[in-house]
Amino acid sequence: MKRHHLLLLLSFLCVLPLCLLNVWLRGFEARTAVHSSGNGDSNVTVLLWHWPFGVSLSLEGDVCWDFYRVPGCRLVNQHSMFPSADVVVFHNRELIQGIQKLPLDLPRPQGQRWAWMSLEAPANNGNLKLFANIFNMTITYRRDADVTIPYGKLQPKDAQEVVELVVEDAHLNKSSLVCWVVSNYRSKHKRSQVFKELSAIVPVKVYGRWTETPLLSNALLPSISSCYFYLAFENSMAKDYISEKLWRNAYQGGAVPVVMGPPLADYKAVAPPHSYIHVDDFASVKDLGTYLQQVAEDKKRYGAYFTWRNRWKVKLYTDWRERLCQICTRYSTLPQHKVYTDLQAWIDNINT
Ligand SMILES: *[C@@H]1O[C@H](CO)[C@@H](O)[C@H](O)[C@H]1NC(C)=O
Ligand SMILES: *[C@@H]1O[C@H](CO)[C@@H](O)[C@H](O)[C@H]1NC(C)=O
Ligand SMILES: *[C@@H]1O[C@H](CO)[C@@H](O)[C@H](O)[C@H]1NC(C)=O
Repeated sequence: MKRHHLLLLLSFLCVLPLCLLNVWLRGFEARTAVHSSGNGDSNVTVLLWHWPFGVSLSLEGDVCWDFYRVPGCRLVNQHSMFPSADVVVFHNRELIQGIQKLPLDLPRPQGQRWAWMSLEAPANNGNLKLFANIFNMTITYRRDADVTIPYGKLQPKDAQEVVELVVEDAHLNKSSLVCWVVSNYRSKHKRSQVFKELSAIVPVKVYGRWTETPLLSNALLPSISSCYFYLAFENSMAKDYISEKLWRNAYQGGAVPVVMGPPLADYKAVAPPHSYIHVDDFASVKDLGTYLQQVAEDKKRYGAYFTWRNRWKVKLYTDWRERLCQICTRYSTLPQHKVYTDLQAWIDNINT
């Protein structure tokens, strides 16, 4: 080997570790940048004033990133964090009950937003007239809320999850035509009227506290899966109010949901076509009963209500921390200034 070749090789060997160090440092920068991204280079701080239903959960570590892959989001629950919070969240139930109070005596930092949060239908939110001109944000299941926190949603299946189901088998293991789970039966509810009429035409198997056949939580889905149809009847008829009765009970239980709640258009916006049967589609309850009977007798027609499952899966939201992390995903798109001058009117969906 010639001498200058040797020199070249030696200098290359000396520089190599520097290059590697450089590459590693760049990687490190990228890693930390990803971690604190989302809103420039700092976190959005979300202060939860009182835990919903008094059930507190751990906020140790970077909860939104570690569990839900939402970056740049800091969830806190210490009232001492008020001066530095970007968003302060108040869950309605405890406000109405007087278990928590709005900190109206504290000076509200410039730019801080107060958020009103509830998963209840309007009828169960109490009197919101008290809360005029206080909140800047709403966090509810409604699609037009500032942060939408539905009970559930559909997600496309990943390529490796796609299995072509034999939909003709959907009727296997079914022993009851129609099932209903109800704990809070009130004869004046619209759903009770429909149930009464329907059960005069077709057999409806009823579970729940009302009939003294309560289902333990681990028996719920297996029971529903033995039914062709499940009455996913909401206890309140309100815009976008589609509860776990659809997402968990019916879809995860594997029965075809017969839905009653908001109008068909609200279901169309969130649920796959031909995955449910809407009561409003029938001129009478008698027609509905006849239709259910005919579909159950026809393997192909019944199976067609399951084809959506080839491409879609259901995601349930059950953890309040995951819902709170959604604030950070929406934060940069929130209007600079917004005040709910009449929260009750917004909840009642009255255009003011
Ligand atoms: C953002 O918040 C998380 C969770 O509290 C924390 O781990 C992280 O260090 C914070 N990042 C910045 C840049 O403050
Ligand atoms: C019916 O039940 C059997 C035994 O529990 C199960 O293996 C099978 O997957 C079920 N079929 C359908 C279509 O749900
Ligand atoms: C939030 O609402 C309060 C009370 O009406 C108002 O003074 C403040 O300007 C609003 N802040 C934002 C960011 O909209």
